[in-house]
Amino acid sequence: MADSFYEHLFGVRDKVALVTGGTRGIGFMIAEGLVRCGAKVYISSRKEDACQAAETRLREHGNCAAIPCDISTLGGCQALAAEIASKEPELHILVNNAGLTWNADIDTFSEKAWDRVVDLNAKAPFFLMQALLPQLRAAASPDDRASVINISSVNAIRPSGLQNYSYVAAKAGLQGMSAQLARDLNGDNINVNVIAPGPFKSKMTAPLYATKEIEAQVMESFTMGRWGTMEDAAGLTIFLSSKAGSFLTGVVIPCDGGATTIG
Ligand SMILES: NC(=O)c1ccc[n+]([C@@H]2O[C@H](COP(=O)([O-])OP(=O)(O)OC[C@H]3O[C@@H](n4cnc5c(N)ncnc54)[C@H](OP(=O)(O)O)[C@@H]3O)[C@@H](O)[C@H]2O)c1
Repeated sequence: MADSFYEHLFGVRDKVALVTGGTRGIGFMIAEGLVRCGAKVYISSRKEDACQAAETRLREHGNCAAIPCDISTLGGCQALAAEIASKEPELHILVNNAGLTWNADIDTFSEKAWDRVVDLNAKAPFFLMQALLPQLRAAASPDDRASVINISSVNAIRPSGLQNYSYVAAKAGLQGMSAQLARDLNGDNINVNVIAPGPFKSKMTAPLYATKEIEAQVMESFTMGRWGTMEDAAGLTIFLSSKAGSFLTGVVIPCDGGATTIG
């Protein structure tokens, strides 16, 4: 009885999910959690070999298929959506996770650095969601709302020591856009929320743990003194995608070990 209520509350079994950038880092963590909880998970990234390798690892836990695609353009978003639509009439969970950052001096920060970052972190989540609206609408009902989760960053909430201007603009824009989408898609029973991660080990943050000395120094600036884990990223995603999180839409939830609680 307890188990079935737990499943009712937090279950994502048999839901269909797409996690962009699901081949490594936070996207892989989220995909792993969803797969292990019984969801049917599609992951995507540019590199075919990375897609193949991640799919093989995730299939050890359940149902996963990878679709290689560059989503930094409108055409890429539409191609990925068409691929999903050819396989799935319904999409319950869309995690817009693929992202990149760029640090450069304020005096020389280039237009290329601006456009590449904004295209992937802000433009792609909108146009991919737009192209997948038929599948999201088909999956959604008042009792079982579909879930769009946009991955932002604590950097969009408070400044850091990094000179990542376009990244901050893109992630803050993503947060504002998500609130607007939550309002506009409410009638379609589609929730739109944001997870703003703090520090998670990934290729993006690899310089922060390049050596034990650097990592020890960096760790002192982490409020809880540790990196985020698969359970941290996946747990929040599963909460937002399940009955338990159904009453939340248009919110930004930091997943950062308390980083936003200190100056
Ligand atoms: N790690 C952190 O501490 C942290 C903190 C705050 C926010 N975030 C956010 O969390 C998300 C994941 O970050 P991460 O640290 O896990 O980064 P990551 O390790 O660099 O992973 C990025 C993922 O996105 C994919 N990707 C990159 N460009 C793409 C494109 N044009 N089209 C499709 N896929 C693309 C990558 O695969 P390919 O190279 O094969 O395309 C990879 O799977 C990002 O949105 C990031 O901004 C991370």
